[in-house]
Amino acid sequence: MTSKIIGTGSYVPVQVVTNDDLAKIVDTNDEWITGRTGIRERRVVMEEGTSHMAVEAARRALDNAGVKPEELDLILLGTASPDHCFPSGACEVQGALEAVNACAFDISAACSGFLFALNTMQAFIQAGIYRTGLVIGADCLSKLVDWKDRGTCVLFGDGAGAAVVRAEDKGMTHTVMRSDGAKWQVLSCISRTNGNFLNHQTPEPGYISMDGQEVFKFAVKKVPECIQQVILESNLSMDDIKYFVLHQANYRIIESVAKRLKQPMDKFPMNMDHYGNTSAASVPILLDEMNRTGRLKTGDRIVLSGFGGGLTWGATLLEW
Ligand code: ACO
Repeated sequence: MTSKIIGTGSYVPVQVVTNDDLAKIVDTNDEWITGRTGIRERRVVMEEGTSHMAVEAARRALDNAGVKPEELDLILLGTASPDHCFPSGACEVQGALEAVNACAFDISAACSGFLFALNTMQAFIQAGIYRTGLVIGADCLSKLVDWKDRGTCVLFGDGAGAAVVRAEDKGMTHTVMRSDGAKWQVLSCISRTNGNFLNHQTPEPGYISMDGQEVFKFAVKKVPECIQQVILESNLSMDDIKYFVLHQANYRIIESVAKRLKQPMDKFPMNMDHYGNTSAASVPILLDEMNRTGRLKTGDRIVLSGFGGGLTWGATLLEW
């Protein structure tokens, strides 16, 4: 027994922020952002938070799958930007959906959040513990970036994507998840500085900080490695894979991964030009777009891969 994605959904805020809009608040320009990242515009929330986006994506995925909320056994939300320290965003989603029979919790793996949540769901289903699950990747990094830091604020967008997963004979076949905590400082966001009545300090919110070139080097090395691993373990070849659905951080990373895997770029769908880097949401948003536009056919073999802060990275090989 394995697990299969039987429905997808996504949600992005309506507010579009173009590169030209950002050039009005920091010293940047469309040519720099597009040339280095492939990003032209992103969506940014006005009122809604991470849980709201997650709930909307989840409702659409349940509708697409034809599954009722009460059928869900487990809800996993991959996010680095929950609305609250506690309860988890997944519990908020459960409440909003009235998924009364589910257990719900968040998974923290930054931009790898959806991939880690999906692989965790697969492990529970493969072990026979649960039968039907909801996996969500949602992030609202617009509240975590320093809007005065041109090195990071141009990269991200807000959004959520979701997949309904069910125990089936065919579906996910091989998974890999890795992390390297020694490099946590390469990409981080302090949620709140220390502060209490003893040290007389007031806790302050932190912002995303990133060593862009280290992230680049890490991604172009580790992503091909984990993709090769799931393909090798499955006794398939690269040519058997129809699409590689990668975290949408930037097009140069994806180009470099394609080159290292000796695979054509048309096997690497991309949408970061209009959504930016939506962190844990990027893989499921892209998957949902591909599903709804009919690009995915039954029997297609695809590899999903995520990478991000932690450092974390991983891949999933599945049959659609
Ligand atoms: N507009 C104009 N100039 C800028 C901007 C900007 N938005 N940001 C930085 N610069 C300037 C820098 O100040 C620097 O100027 P200087 O030479 O006068 O000092 C110059 O551009 C080069 O800066 P670098 O940081 O060296 O730029 P780099 O070529 O490395 O590109 C980038 C930065 C795009 C972030 C690159 O490192 C990269 O692609 N890294 C991958 C990381 C990534 O994609 N992160 C996304 C989030 S993490 C994740 O999803 C896993």
